[in-house]
Amino acid sequence: MSKKNILLLFVNLLLLVYLFALPVNAVKLDESSNIVQLNESGETTSLTVDTLKRGKTLFNAKCAQCHNGGITKNNPNIGLDVETLKLATPSRDNLTNLIDYIKNPTSYDGVDSISETHPSVNNADIFIKMKNLTDNDLEAIAGYILIQATGPDQKWGVGKISY
Ligand code: HEC
Repeated sequence: MSKKNILLLFVNLLLLVYLFALPVNAVKLDESSNIVQLNESGETTSLTVDTLKRGKTLFNAKCAQCHNGGITKNNPNIGLDVETLKLATPSRDNLTNLIDYIKNPTSYDGVDSISETHPSVNNADIFIKMKNLTDNDLEAIAGYILIQATGPDQKWGVGKISY
């Protein structure tokens, strides 16, 4: 092999290494990242890749208008990042409570229902987009949010939108 070829080979190898070392952006919806918190007692459950992909599609159609990239447009203090979800009352960093929230959203302290101002399944007559969502759909949306919020993506919910 000529010196030039060896150099080319070396450059190519370097490029390959860079490719694999690129920072992780949006969470890839594959088998390695499908475990989410099920409830407040710390039980977990795993969701299929299909469910998470469906969750992403539903989230983009029904929620992203205000929550693109995990932020909350009209109230940046209450984003969909894991810290903010966790510190809500009751905590929303688990599948069960997040599904409850989509059915009947409450104020951050849990005291008041906000189902007439925040899109909700229980008030789908006002929020047409929330009509015909099955429990499976809600699980898919909540699962997608949790995977994004707890994954290695540092940008979800902190304002830098890249989705
Ligand atoms: C019209 C804008 C809008 C849409 C659409 C919307 N949201 Fe929200 N969302 C908000 C606002 C504003 C808040 C803050 C509510 C408050 O003041 O407590 C919020 C809060 C939340 C929270 C609480 C976050 C936390 O950290 O406690 C969750 C969870 C949430 N939304 C989920 C959803 C889901 C899921 C959808 C789609 C089905 C959705 N939202 C659609 C505006 C919206």
